[in-house]
Amino acid sequence: MKGKSASSKLGFALLLSSLAPLASGHTYLTSLGINGTQLAEEKCIRPWWKNENYPVEDPNSSDLLCRTKDMTASATSMCGVTAGSNITIYWTESGTGSRAIDPSHLGPCLAYMAPLSSNGSGDVWFKIYEDGYDPATKLWCVDKIVKSKGYLDITIPADIAPGDYLLRTEIIALHEADRVYGADKSAGAQYYPNCAQLTISGTGTAQPRGYAIPGIYKPTDPGIHINIYDPMHSYTIPGPPKYVPGSAKNTNANIVSAASISNTQTVGASAKSSSSATLPIPTSPTAISVAPPVVNTGPSQTTAKKCSHRKSVRKCKHQRKARFHFEL
Ligand SMILES: *[C@@H]1O[C@H](CO)[C@@H](O)[C@H](O)[C@H]1NC(C)=O
Ligand SMILES: *[C@@H]1O[C@H](CO)[C@@H](O)[C@H](O)[C@H]1NC(C)=O
Ligand SMILES: *[C@@H]1O[C@H](CO)[C@@H](O)[C@H](O)[C@H]1NC(C)=O
Ligand SMILES: *[C@@H]1O[C@H](CO)[C@@H](O)[C@H](O)[C@H]1NC(C)=O
Repeated sequence: MKGKSASSKLGFALLLSSLAPLASGHTYLTSLGINGTQLAEEKCIRPWWKNENYPVEDPNSSDLLCRTKDMTASATSMCGVTAGSNITIYWTESGTGSRAIDPSHLGPCLAYMAPLSSNGSGDVWFKIYEDGYDPATKLWCVDKIVKSKGYLDITIPADIAPGDYLLRTEIIALHEADRVYGADKSAGAQYYPNCAQLTISGTGTAQPRGYAIPGIYKPTDPGIHINIYDPMHSYTIPGPPKYVPGSAKNTNANIVSAASISNTQTVGASAKSSSSATLPIPTSPTAISVAPPVVNTGPSQTTAKKCSHRKSVRKCKHQRKARFHFEL
């Protein structure tokens, strides 16, 4: 524990010295909460993109997959999760360690899964979570995670077949989405995906129909090209339909009628869906379903060691700052 307090002092010094220059608004999947415990940073998460965790802007880019240059599955550990259980996603804004994302980066939150054996390639991704915009409360999912300081609970479908999976979490920021990405490369939505690796246990057999990434979003999709500063009465969450547990009994990736592919999800439908109804997002850090983050010496040291080997000093600063945040 001596090492821990030393590193926390170091983190504090770095926080003070580097907060302003690093603030960038960008966000990344920092850690997961599983079985009521906040896991160490990066545990079973594929390596982060780069210093500032820039968003992906081209929806055709292979970076849309996991926003990493390292798709080598073996370099990332696995985390065990029982099908049907809730896990907590924790996002941190690059360079702050204390916010989820710049509050101006409004938009939906989504999560997808794919069998790990696919390495993310092919028609393999099924959506397991989506939360867009609620015209009644005028709140975006990003508003909610800003309020919860980055925590969002999602449910792993109870009926999926056990095995190793990729979990892809994503925030889509729409603050510049009034212009279409294309000739203007600085226009359009900003995608913030990251991937984790989960070993799912259970007795399910479902193999939900999957979709290819990139391929799920087009720059002109109604939920991608949108002026969020106009009055909004509805919002169409982009991507394929969310997988409904129990609905895959007789389907697999190869036998799905074209009719079932069209996506007509709206916020109205989403608000009534079980995900919104049964998974309220914590409104304060104390309402989070996982136990307060526990930093145990083992993972911290592992992370610190890993960090010291990295070329990216700034990224290491992120890690130390975030750890400091955890220990508060
Ligand atoms: C996943 O794909 C990347 C290239 O996209 C490759 O470098 C990596 O080795 C692959 N991993 C596995 C486990 O196939
Ligand atoms: C969560 O609990 C399940 C069931 O006991 C176990 O298999 C899994 O490894 C645990 N996951 C983590 C990350 O501790
Ligand atoms: C993305 O790919 C599709 C299909 O290949 C193509 O029609 C489209 O023009 C591409 N979009 C961009 C923005 O490059
Ligand atoms: C998942 O979370 C929701 C809302 O917090 C809760 O109603 C539900 O019982 C949880 N499910 C499990 C399996 O813990």
